[in-house]
Amino acid sequence: MKSDNKTFISVDPKEASLQEVHKLLLGGVTPRPIALVSTISEDGFNNLSPFSFYNAFGANPPIVVFSPARRGRDGTTKDTLNNLQKIKECVVQAVSYEIIQQVSLASTEYDSSVDEFVKSGLTPIKSDLVQPMRVAESPFQMECKVQQIIPLGEKNGSGNLVVCEVVKIHFDEAVLQDGVIEPNLIRLVGRNSANYYSKAFDNAIFEIEKPIATKGIGIDQLPEFIKHSKTLTGNDLGQLGNIEKLPTESELQTFITSYKNIGIKPLEIPQILKENDPHKIFSAALSLTESDKENSMRIIEIAAKKALEQNDVTFAIHALLASRLILN
Ligand SMILES: Cc1cc2nc3c(=O)[nH]c(=O)nc-3n(C[C@H](O)[C@H](O)[C@H](O)COP(=O)(O)O)c2cc1C
Repeated sequence: MKSDNKTFISVDPKEASLQEVHKLLLGGVTPRPIALVSTISEDGFNNLSPFSFYNAFGANPPIVVFSPARRGRDGTTKDTLNNLQKIKECVVQAVSYEIIQQVSLASTEYDSSVDEFVKSGLTPIKSDLVQPMRVAESPFQMECKVQQIIPLGEKNGSGNLVVCEVVKIHFDEAVLQDGVIEPNLIRLVGRNSANYYSKAFDNAIFEIEKPIATKGIGIDQLPEFIKHSKTLTGNDLGQLGNIEKLPTESELQTFITSYKNIGIKPLEIPQILKENDPHKIFSAALSLTESDKENSMRIIEIAAKKALEQNDVTFAIHALLASRLILN
């Protein structure tokens, strides 16, 4: 099936340096959502810092977890963690493209008495149920009570899981479309490695249909000639493996007769291939079934591929299987 010829480099984290392991995790576990966390010290100083070792882990109760690690250079703990050990409340907010430079500035290691709201120019607004402030500019804010803090080690770079129960959610009504948060409206960003960030909107967004509830047949059940096609990729096979059952021979015959030979001339085929119409491409392949079987098969695979790009899995599987009836 589809497996690239990769040469793997294997690393034992116990043998590698902390910097190397950290860099690998940042590069391979990516893009990561960013939690912009506001806390408050016992003395009442606001603190605001971003954390991308972060995610949500359940909805009932709603739990988010982030990890302020011990500093790599000296193993000391960060203000966010120190504050949370005393005052077990925070606000975790999402980071949109519009505030990412200010959020990056808030990651500066200012002294614990310095208010990063002031330094970053982000606006503090009162929370309903917790003491730390919300960030007005963030489109999605969660007031949280800390359930547990789990230290993952005592060494330089060791993480600390801060397990938070979300007790109130606030979000900008402008990010809603048809009752759901729309990625192109909320415009969140993710953290990659080094200085890289990624946009979770615009052309970075694409759709994958959910696997069907009745369970797809799986790639293993596709005929060998499809699994070993040079034109179809692993993604193409993934789509095909999601069908409920393969079409029967009589369904394939009906499919073939619906594509009459419409008299396409071989010279017209390069132009047709440039167009995105799988049906026309399939008709072009039919016009070659007598004269050039190999090319006909290749063109049928292209038609199937184009159909899969358009999420027309039914056409794709019919076209591919019909090729066996037409060309044998
Ligand atoms: C986008 C971004 C993500 C970050 N993620 C983390 C993280 O997951 N864990 C961590 O310990 N530090 C992370 N940092 C670094 C902290 O934000 C930085 O050490 C900050 O100064 C900690 O502030 P504090 O001492 O006020 O808590 C990140 C920085 C940025 C810019």
